[in-house]
Amino acid sequence: MTGRLEGKVAVITGGASGIGRAAALMFVAQGARVVIADLNAVKSQEVLDLATQQGHGSAIISQLTDVSEESQVEAMIGSAVDAFGRLDILFNNAGVGGAMAPITETTVEEWDRTSDMLLRSVFLGIKHGARAIRRHGDGGSIINTASTAGLVGGSGPAAYSAAKSGVVSLTKSAAIQLAADRIRVNAIAPGGIHTPLMPASNDEEMRRFMKGRQPWPDTGQSEDIAYAALYLGSDEARFCTGSTLVVDGGLLAWGPGLFPHAESTGQKGFTMSSIGEADTSERALIRPVIVENAE
Ligand SMILES: NC(=O)c1ccc[n+]([C@@H]2O[C@H](COP(=O)([O-])OP(=O)(O)OC[C@H]3O[C@@H](n4cnc5c(N)ncnc54)[C@H](O)[C@@H]3O)[C@@H](O)[C@H]2O)c1
Repeated sequence: MTGRLEGKVAVITGGASGIGRAAALMFVAQGARVVIADLNAVKSQEVLDLATQQGHGSAIISQLTDVSEESQVEAMIGSAVDAFGRLDILFNNAGVGGAMAPITETTVEEWDRTSDMLLRSVFLGIKHGARAIRRHGDGGSIINTASTAGLVGGSGPAAYSAAKSGVVSLTKSAAIQLAADRIRVNAIAPGGIHTPLMPASNDEEMRRFMKGRQPWPDTGQSEDIAYAALYLGSDEARFCTGSTLVVDGGLLAWGPGLFPHAESTGQKGFTMSSIGEADTSERALIRPVIVENAE
């Protein structure tokens, strides 16, 4: 069986760790040739070593890159074309947590650095990636890592969330502009994924961090996002552009969490509200749950 990315050349930013690392190893296993572009030389080498151990050493190279710098992004795209002859897939995935302070305490420098690393980087990737994909005329796929933090408040620090909202918006604009070239542009919005970016040192801590927020019982792993990127990078997604694929274990579906589901509270009966008929629901049972959550 041939791989789902057979013959394709991909650049994966932030490919040294977490989601990018999982995607790099998955992409080469599916037949792609890959450039990982990252600031971290040590972790990049680890990925090259892992790929070699898995029998894909000749299909992957590393290009040390700061994705917020235009000349380095140009060089990153150039390295894929030089090494493998073309570019088909660009996964704009590199990221940091960025400014953590309250808005009233955030400096302009912290705000700008966050935005440069998370949003300018994606603009630069699309700009230079699309030019390279256009050159061969076969079309391609650009995938941007956004976040649930870019879709709702309260899912990340303010500067991070604003930048990720920008990624969602830019994805749509770019999808419109590049459709005629058959370049699809989509975003992925991960929820809580257990990577070095998150404040959890192991799976159990991560599970506790997400408890009461994420309905799905398992911890989100880098591979869960890499699979979404694999789909969006492959020809299976040929009609998919301008979308943001949420991969979050139901985190956003949970929403404000004001009304707990019946199974967890033992509620039963039928709520008639104010229509004048007898109400058989056991609504009183909701109260202890709300109080418990508030604590
Ligand atoms: N982990 C999560 O829960 C989560 C949730 C939503 C979105 N995301 C996003 O997923 C993406 C990947 O994050 P991760 O969780 O795998 O984290 P990670 O820290 O494991 O990996 C991020 C990688 O990006 C690299 N990087 C950071 N800034 C860079 C720059 N300017 N130039 C080049 N490389 C740079 C880092 O060196 C690192 O290798 C990020 O965009 C992040 O915002 C993560």
